Amino acid sequence: MGAPPELLAGAHQAALDEIRHARLSFALASHYAGVKLGPGALQLPSELPPVTLLSAATAAAHEGCVSETLAAIEVAEAAELASEPAVRMALAIIAPDEMRHAQLAWTFVRWAIGAGDETMAQAVRVRFELSIAQVAALDPRVSTADAALLAYGRLCGARRNAARRSALREVIEPAVTSLFAEIAVARPAGRSR
Ligand SMILES: [Fe+2]
Repeated sequence: MGAPPELLAGAHQAALDEIRHARLSFALASHYAGVKLGPGALQLPSELPPVTLLSAATAAAHEGCVSETLAAIEVAEAAELASEPAVRMALAIIAPDEMRHAQLAWTFVRWAIGAGDETMAQAVRVRFELSIAQVAALDPRVSTADAALLAYGRLCGARRNAARRSALREVIEPAVTSLFAEIAVARPAGRSR
């Protein structure tokens, strides 16, 4: 896609981080399961749809900017609240990495909008609106994890949803507003690339 080298380096660094996270997580899972656990082969369809700048930008807006920002904030909270030392240690390693991955997604989306046309900016804006609406629609009463699992870094549903809502309000929504404000300044209305 012609992305600048900083973005390519960030993507490779993030992929290496994920290998480290998987190692830490499988080590914990193996410990609790009492048997050695590890990854299997990733099943991929034989034909993958073509990746375009537009599809990559909208996917990054949803999966990176929204989901990964939420995940990073949740992991940071779980790291603070967990009482099991091994879990705390693993989560304290994962949390700042995930924050960097979220930042990478915002940087990529900013770059992609600048590289694309007005259709791209509109598609990304709509994707943001959908993702934010999905998170905002979460029922705060739903509890999917037992409160006793907090010691092991699992936030219960209510706590998780509260963390997500405040992340949405305090981080994601202001970031979307400033992203599009910055783009409007860089590309005044009526001027298309
Ligand atoms: Fe990540």
